[in-house]
Amino acid sequence: SARAKPRPDCARPYEASRLRPCADTCPPPARHYPGPLPCPPPGSPRPAQPQCVRAWLQRSSVPPRCCAAWLLRAGDVTTQVSLQPALKFNGGGHINHTIFWTNLSPSGGGEPQGELLEAIKRDFGSFASFKEKLTAVSVGVQGSGWGWLGFNKEQGRLQIAACANQDPLQGTTGLVPLLGIDVWEHAYYLQYKNVRPDYLKAIWNVINWENVSSRYSACRK
Ligand SMILES: [Fe+2]
Repeated sequence: SARAKPRPDCARPYEASRLRPCADTCPPPARHYPGPLPCPPPGSPRPAQPQCVRAWLQRSSVPPRCCAAWLLRAGDVTTQVSLQPALKFNGGGHINHTIFWTNLSPSGGGEPQGELLEAIKRDFGSFASFKEKLTAVSVGVQGSGWGWLGFNKEQGRLQIAACANQDPLQGTTGLVPLLGIDVWEHAYYLQYKNVRPDYLKAIWNVINWENVSSRYSACRK
């Protein structure tokens, strides 16, 4: 029952300790987000689809492609509906952390440049006021969740949003995720105990604005 190695896009592209002085655990250990279960080899008998999906939900945050395909093909709406909360939580957790890890960099911090900076000024007045708003929204998340900078494609503008639990931004609000801030206590308790505002203050020192900018450019194409 060997667990598959994390996919490259799920792996942290640097050592967590390199994010000091933000947080030793920011982002949290990759072992919390294991990779997909392996698909059975081609030609092997097809396991019952709900069994396959249940195995995934118990063991991994990422579905094997074959499970997802079987689930859709099977047309078993009752099973599909019953799995929605777990899909949202486990799938959302994978999506969110994959974005978060690339949003951060040991050589991050400072301010964005170019188009992204212009858009921030247009939609929030100034970079300082944007920072203040995203900090306030993230600090104010009740319980566990995420603060986000997203792009509203219909209105062509940036927006700040808060999501509960592991709700993925795009799937639940339609906004394209540009910058996510994990405010689950697991992201900051080792260094900041329960003082979320101190973590929010420090995280700006490790934001990878190049990554946020390239996400902004990509979603406007
Ligand atoms: Fe997290």
